[in-house]
Amino acid sequence: MIEVRKAVLKDVEQVFELVNQYANEGLMLPRTRDSLVLNLQSIFVAEEEGEILGIASLAILGHDLAEIRSLAVSEKAKGRGIGRMLVARVVEETKKIGIPKLISLTYQVAFFEKCGFKVIQKTEMPQKVWTDCIHCPKFPSCDEIAMAIQTA
Ligand SMILES: CC(C)(COP(=O)(O)OP(=O)(O)OC[C@H]1O[C@@H](n2cnc3c(N)ncnc32)[C@H](O)[C@@H]1OP(=O)(O)O)[C@@H](O)C(=O)NCCC(=O)NCCS
Repeated sequence: MIEVRKAVLKDVEQVFELVNQYANEGLMLPRTRDSLVLNLQSIFVAEEEGEILGIASLAILGHDLAEIRSLAVSEKAKGRGIGRMLVARVVEETKKIGIPKLISLTYQVAFFEKCGFKVIQKTEMPQKVWTDCIHCPKFPSCDEIAMAIQTA
């Protein structure tokens, strides 16, 4: 049975491997072990029999905006609904916190549409997002698609 739960310290190594395997393929941004440890409270994992099969994290960008980051499902576990479960958990957490909008910067448009997100213009995103973008290796030529879902 797959359980989606908050990450704990013992998950860090498996999460690190999963995220950085896709980061090496250019599909997502890399994360350091330190960044995972420091942000543990905002990371969710999907676990089955002790194995981490998926991960997603929630970054609060301001009082009215959050972003889903580092969404990854291991190659062998794709297509079992784990990505959708992780997105649903992050949406639920965003709602619980009281933030009305969740965005994603992604290449996986069809997947996020299935999860209820809609494509938005990058110009619709507030300045705060771009402030963070300056620290991203893809800046200034980011080719990811901006998507959003209302959470309130
Ligand atoms: C994108 C990703 C998270 C999807 O995870 P997953 O567990 O395989 O997805 P699910 O099984 O929950 O799929 C949910 C729905 O989306 C669809 N879907 C999944 N991946 C898709 C894709 N690449 N293109 C189109 N549809 C897709 C599924 O068919 C399913 O549709 P259905 O409910 O009609 O059957 C996973 O492929 C992944 O980790 N990719 C590599 C890393 C990455 O690109 N992450 C996103 C960074 S923003």
